Amino acid sequence: MAKILVTGGMGFIGSHTVVELVNAGYEPVIVDNLVNSHPKILEQLTRILGFKPAFYQLDLCDEHAVRSLSVAEPDIEGIIHFAAFKAVGESVQLPLKYYHNNFSSMLNLLEAYYGKPLNFVFSSSCTVYGQPDHLPVNENAPVKPAQSPYGNTKQIAEEILQDMIASGSNYKVVSLRYFNPVGAHDSALIGELPIGVPQNLVPFITQTAIGKREKITVFGDDYNTPDGSCIRDYIHVVDLAKAHVAALKLMEKPDYSGYDVFNIGTGNGTSVLEVIHAFERATNEKLNYQIGPRRGGDVEQVWGDVTKSTEKLHWKAELGIDEMMSSAWAWEKYLFENPL
Ligand code: UD1
Repeated sequence: MAKILVTGGMGFIGSHTVVELVNAGYEPVIVDNLVNSHPKILEQLTRILGFKPAFYQLDLCDEHAVRSLSVAEPDIEGIIHFAAFKAVGESVQLPLKYYHNNFSSMLNLLEAYYGKPLNFVFSSSCTVYGQPDHLPVNENAPVKPAQSPYGNTKQIAEEILQDMIASGSNYKVVSLRYFNPVGAHDSALIGELPIGVPQNLVPFITQTAIGKREKITVFGDDYNTPDGSCIRDYIHVVDLAKAHVAALKLMEKPDYSGYDVFNIGTGNGTSVLEVIHAFERATNEKLNYQIGPRRGGDVEQVWGDVTKSTEKLHWKAELGIDEMMSSAWAWEKYLFENPL
């Protein structure tokens, strides 16, 4: 069984990817500093997997700790690097925190394993496209000036990885540009765990439906879209997790070398109001929502062209918006009955 290091493996996307790695016959080794995740997720993973996955609690910004990790785990064949800060608004307030954390962690990791023939998957984002000129946006679209330090860390990290490959490194690299990950594992034992007030749409919806929040505000209904609200490409986190397995499989092919990048979305755009109505339909819950002003920095509409991921990564999303909503809701209800 090939050992795969999963940094940020206790987080939302990371924990679901740990499950899919095991399903595909890999041996995940989780690294997480737990700043944005909960220690109990390890127990939840153990319940899903039937065994406790290897876990190191360490901060990837600590160079010595990362070097020790590479000594303790020398026979790693791949790294999936999720660990990063991801709150757009906070990154505008605290840019140095974002640049320091997101770059030091990735550089320490790359340097610690440098020279080994490793497959490296990087968590990038559709945020690199800004507001694209053409929709659906494909991987060749120009990268737009970043709207936030968070977005800039994704753009620069992609460049760092390409420079590393151009220098003749032994690594093989795939960057996955995620659209909007939502939903939860069908066991309802893991899911998104926002700290404090959720910034993202779907956790805000589920917390409103469960009664933790009074109402949800739709940030603007005067955009140039059919119903006036913003459009995104929502992708089920389990489909997204499987894309990481597909990326490893691609890099394992002897004819794969260097660097490549793939959109990971469904290829469909869904508006905020459509998401709200899909939630109500899929769960039979009535949502208390109001229309409010636009949120600063929001892109009007973006959804992905997934032709390249379908053809070259041999990956395609299978789950739709109803499954995204019903699974997110099942997880919120689980949390209500079983607070972590
Ligand atoms: C953005 C980035 C994404 C990044 C993510 C991290 C883009 C296109 N996407 O996602 O790459 O990983 O931040 O957090 O830049 N909304 C409401 N009410 C709410 C919350 C959200 O109406 O209470 C709306 C937003 O205005 C937006 C949509 O819901 O139109 C989705 O918002 P959100 O879930 O925050 O994700 P993005 O901003 O698209």
